[in-house]
Amino acid sequence: MPKLLILYYSRTGNTEKMAEAVAEGAKNVQGTEVTVTYHVKPEELAKFDAMAVGVPTYHHDMTTDIKRLFEETAVKHVDLKGRVGAAFGSYGWSGEAPRMVLEIMKNKFEMRTVEPPLLIKYAPNQNGMEKCREFGKKIAEEALKQIS
Ligand SMILES: Cc1cc2nc3c(=O)[nH]c(=O)nc-3n(C[C@H](O)[C@H](O)[C@H](O)COP(=O)(O)O)c2cc1C
Repeated sequence: MPKLLILYYSRTGNTEKMAEAVAEGAKNVQGTEVTVTYHVKPEELAKFDAMAVGVPTYHHDMTTDIKRLFEETAVKHVDLKGRVGAAFGSYGWSGEAPRMVLEIMKNKFEMRTVEPPLLIKYAPNQNGMEKCREFGKKIAEEALKQIS
């Protein structure tokens, strides 16, 4: 049974809505155990086969909480090699944050990344929510491959 973590940050709720829809889509893949949270300890990351990080872009950057988590994960040598990594987030005009997250997942932690990241401008509409559900399904399918 694949275990998927959906970790997100959201200041005005847009990325949070995305995270909920990503979780919904992932749960449609039989047997997937989905955990949605906005806080996790670095050591806990190793419990999951796949990790999807939701980050909005503020000031052309990802949020400090996610940066700190990655730094602590590296310092504590938590091994994420080969696990599935994905990123998504709401943005206004430039949307760099999810790409930054994927870059770290790939280059620092040697995770198997799901490309491209999913970006939605401001609040997701019906179509955006459907894209999030499809994205969640895709990540869960990758996680299933990972454990089989
Ligand atoms: C102070 C501020 C700075 C922002 N900077 C950026 C930016 O650099 N690039 C971008 O694409 N969007 C930027 N945005 C837009 C947010 O990414 C957008 O409002 C997003 O929907 C917020 O997601 P959230 O509701 O999950 O927090 C900014 C918004 C604010 C309020």
